Amino acid sequence: MTTYISRNPACVDDIVVEVPLATVADVVATCQAAKDAQPGWAAVPAPARGRVIAQVGRLFEANKESLSRLVTREMGKVYAEALGDVQEVIDTCDFFLGEGRRLYGQTVPSEMPDKQLFTFRVPVGTAMIITAGNFPAAVPSWYIIPALVTGNSIVWKPVEQTAAIAQAMAEIFYAGGVPRDVLKVVIADGPTTYDGLEAALHKGLVNKIGFTGSTEVGRKLGELAGRHLQSPCLELGGKNPMVVMPAADIDLVVEGALFAGFGTAGQRCTSLGTLWVHRDVYDAVHERYVHAVENAIVGDPFERVLYGPMIDEKYLANHEKHLGLIQDHQTVYGSTAIGRITSHNPRRGFVGDPDAGWYAHPTIVDGIRAGDALYDTETFGPLVGMGVFDTLDEAIELANGHGYGLSSAIYTSDPKAVWRFRQGISAGMLSINNSTSGAEAHLPFGGNGRSGNGSRQSGIWVLDQFTRWQSMNWDYSGKLQKAQMDVEELPYDPGFRL
Ligand code: UN1
Repeated sequence: MTTYISRNPACVDDIVVEVPLATVADVVATCQAAKDAQPGWAAVPAPARGRVIAQVGRLFEANKESLSRLVTREMGKVYAEALGDVQEVIDTCDFFLGEGRRLYGQTVPSEMPDKQLFTFRVPVGTAMIITAGNFPAAVPSWYIIPALVTGNSIVWKPVEQTAAIAQAMAEIFYAGGVPRDVLKVVIADGPTTYDGLEAALHKGLVNKIGFTGSTEVGRKLGELAGRHLQSPCLELGGKNPMVVMPAADIDLVVEGALFAGFGTAGQRCTSLGTLWVHRDVYDAVHERYVHAVENAIVGDPFERVLYGPMIDEKYLANHEKHLGLIQDHQTVYGSTAIGRITSHNPRRGFVGDPDAGWYAHPTIVDGIRAGDALYDTETFGPLVGMGVFDTLDEAIELANGHGYGLSSAIYTSDPKAVWRFRQGISAGMLSINNSTSGAEAHLPFGGNGRSGNGSRQSGIWVLDQFTRWQSMNWDYSGKLQKAQMDVEELPYDPGFRL
């Protein structure tokens, strides 16, 4: 049996868990078990399912610190951010616990007498949810919680690097009252997951795919879902722009760009991609941003640092590959070196032992232009581009031109610029005078173009991912009344004028 060893990325000798990796047959069997359990769960009255979500929320709250410690240990984000990650689960429970008492349908008038129309939300069935490691608690919960309250069963395939977090979360769901077969966790590698999913779709065991991860994998899953006439929920990559206008508060810009670019070591799908700065304030922003990044503290994620290690070696290797995209007309700032931080390639002020984990220097690449490799490549690491513009129209074009459309931000005190940016930006999310990252858990979350297929998570909007509308016509006239044909028309006088 193949196993996966999940390690603490800040101290790779610390093994967090060793888990068996599922085979294709295991993935299919797991989907079958979830499929079998779904009708029973859907038969539980929705308010009772909502109570389960309330209980789950209380347990996440009671276990917030211990789960957050595990998040930091297994995935490497700083403890304050780990607390935020778990808080998003609690917020999502808070939002959806009442949905069991709503799940509203409509009563709709009929065009004929003695007939009434209705709509109902019905669960989609069994959902396969595949999630990334950067938000190991929050992002899965955005799928699992609304899927549960609406009566679906779930097979959750977390990324292997956060296997222990997934197992701990599943235990909280079970302790909160979710039956074990209604939420199944399967740990498998990417190719096995794909083959298992393909086989399960073929057997009719999966009715919905939810995926948060790279655009490349999202494309493959989208094609697979399309072959089965399904529309998946895809939350993919980003190259999120932050536009700084002349009338911006520069202190706020620097603070926002520091967090957006380097929080979670740049491994958020909402992380800052390129900081686009108006020529009039370019030098001022550049100087202060470079200073802030040079002085930011990197290191042990349990200490007071801006960011900790990369999620694992693979993510660090990917970051190093992206450093190879830096071109001659660009200049690098932010640290005394680039790439992996070690005792031989040190970072000033580093907290802890750099050789023990997968740490990377923060890097600002100045001089980004449309057409550069770094202009349209999502880097998913501590690398932020900087570029200049002269007009807002040019900034909007630069912000949209790469085809990603997840998150974005503009810093300005000019309301006209805000509204023009809102209208022109193609991203699904925008922030005014705030970071590209840090979305609240009850607004629609999702992107367009290379960032997704237009699906939205969170808040009331995600209900459309996990339910389908059923329309009901109830005719109690005792005769066949034909729509569009047996419709009463009241007379009117077409020639009437005052
Ligand atoms: C992600 O990176 O996949 O908006 C999700 C944010 C977080 C969620 C990010 N609340 O940055």
